[in-house]
Amino acid sequence: MDRRSFLRLGVGGAALLAAQPVLGRDPALARPAPGPFGHGVASGDPRPDAVVLWTRVTPTDEATPGSGLGAATGVRWEVATDDAFTAVLRSGTVTTDPASDHTVKVDVDGLPSATDLWYRFAALGATSPVGRTRTMPASDADVESLRIGVVSCSNYEGGFFSAYRHVAARDDLDFVVHLGDYVYEYGQGAYGPGPGIGRLHDPATEMVTLSDYRRRHALYKTDPDLGALHRRYALITTIDDHEVTDNSWAAGANNHGAGEGDYVARRAAAMQAYFEWMPIRATGGAAEPTRIYRESSYGSLVDLFVLDQRTYRSEQVAGAQGDMLVTDPAVAAPERTLLGAEQRAWFEAGLDASVAPWKVVLNPVMFTPFVVADLPDLGGVANVLGGVLAGLGVSPPVVLNGDQWDGYRAEQLAFRDRFGQVGGVVLLTGDIHSTWASEVPADPGTYLPLVGGDTVAVEFVVPGITSDSLGSSLAGLFPGGELLADNFPAIISTVAPWFKYVDVERQGFGVFEVTADHAHHDWFYVSDRTDPNATAVDGPSFRSVAGSNKIVAAAKLGPRPAVAAAAPAAPASPAATPPIATLPATGRTLPLGAAAAAATAGLALVAARRATAPEETE
Ligand SMILES: [Fe+2]
Repeated sequence: MDRRSFLRLGVGGAALLAAQPVLGRDPALARPAPGPFGHGVASGDPRPDAVVLWTRVTPTDEATPGSGLGAATGVRWEVATDDAFTAVLRSGTVTTDPASDHTVKVDVDGLPSATDLWYRFAALGATSPVGRTRTMPASDADVESLRIGVVSCSNYEGGFFSAYRHVAARDDLDFVVHLGDYVYEYGQGAYGPGPGIGRLHDPATEMVTLSDYRRRHALYKTDPDLGALHRRYALITTIDDHEVTDNSWAAGANNHGAGEGDYVARRAAAMQAYFEWMPIRATGGAAEPTRIYRESSYGSLVDLFVLDQRTYRSEQVAGAQGDMLVTDPAVAAPERTLLGAEQRAWFEAGLDASVAPWKVVLNPVMFTPFVVADLPDLGGVANVLGGVLAGLGVSPPVVLNGDQWDGYRAEQLAFRDRFGQVGGVVLLTGDIHSTWASEVPADPGTYLPLVGGDTVAVEFVVPGITSDSLGSSLAGLFPGGELLADNFPAIISTVAPWFKYVDVERQGFGVFEVTADHAHHDWFYVSDRTDPNATAVDGPSFRSVAGSNKIVAAAKLGPRPAVAAAAPAAPASPAATPPIATLPATGRTLPLGAAAAAATAGLALVAARRATAPEETE
């Protein structure tokens, strides 16, 4: 079909409005672009022969998201191998209406594998912005490398989505994974600097109803930087808690009150809106139409497991501060589950059946153990933590965050052993608004600073796109929390030396690559989350040699060979990357390679770093 006939769908003879987004940085303009396609386009869950395409059509002014208003509307879609749509591969027409909030999802199949594709929609005489996507290689293809963007925790009121813009500007990725907290539930002014920078949630109150969740997703889809990301790359997404509400579990949530109705009904509304507004493929059938966990592969190189760690989990065990600083031995109860029985069995079977050298796990909450077993011999650094614990009447052993795998100890240990058996497991993690690079120890008790120990997997944790940093949270959580936050990396190096890098202050994103030889993770930070034009600066990089389950500091990735050949003008920066030690550091950043040194130097090391580093404003 040519361009003219493509545009003819809908109102015959109507003006052919090009609904390109014209959103400015002025937050007052954070509303849909004029025309039927003001919420942009997106693609997701690529397969070797298929990809999910998404848009939302607004047929009339009153047919706003969540309104339930507006007539059924036909929408044309096209997929081509060029951005001028001279070589259209597939096309069709679907009808949408208020039952799906006028969202459109098309699972287009019959596509060539490992191919760049362009797509667009048309309705009511208008065309959508053009999106670009890419199919996966054939499952048995011998591929050289996978390179993806890694993002999480994007609170609209937390700042501008500059990190998304910087991911979208890259030209070397296969797709982008979002590890959860794509939207946040809070009402205006409840979390983050939004009111001060004109980034205000819609609806103004906490989202609880189906209409609320639809409106909130719609607001996020008007953000120009998120729109750019969706137009450029397919996303593979999972959920964390805030897609429903804070610290959710199977039958409730920390942020679900008595006046907010039945929790399971609320989650159903949230998940309905999520599946309407996200480019995610429904794989659970009629029995579970909003099932999140699913599997993919990238040629013969990678098997990709997408986990849901909220919908089926046991309730968090109470700690001294919410679910933090947990001393209750109930965390180890064998019946406690993070994944639920069905997902756990599916994940176990998938790991066992995988013959790919790399098993990459989209793992919303941190797996690596983070338990303080003892304090007496830990010197000055531990005194900070000891002081905080003593002030709260808490004594070790203590789980620092019971919302993570540590709060589900039996299941954590079972998968620790399984990871060790299958090999090649890399966990990509979000949730905690901070940067962590770690080896997963086979036995924390025998893993020694400098010497190391047996390990079973590696984990890379990305900071939030905008959400408040872990450091700022720690500083406000406990009496003495500010001191704890300032010394946090040194404390970690003391009590958990398998963590090789920690930063609890910055926002940003990750770029992850695997080849037959290595798994590699680059971090990039945004200069200021409240600056709409924030720049991206280099963070740390770590690499794991295949078969090692260890990580070492590395230089930034260079251009991919195939990409470099196609786009020789792409900026190159591999060798120019400064070593980790010269990165600008805050008091809350510490490369942990010299863990033993940090353990002995303790506060003095941190103090020295703070004396030579610019202090960041919280
Ligand atoms: Fe988050």
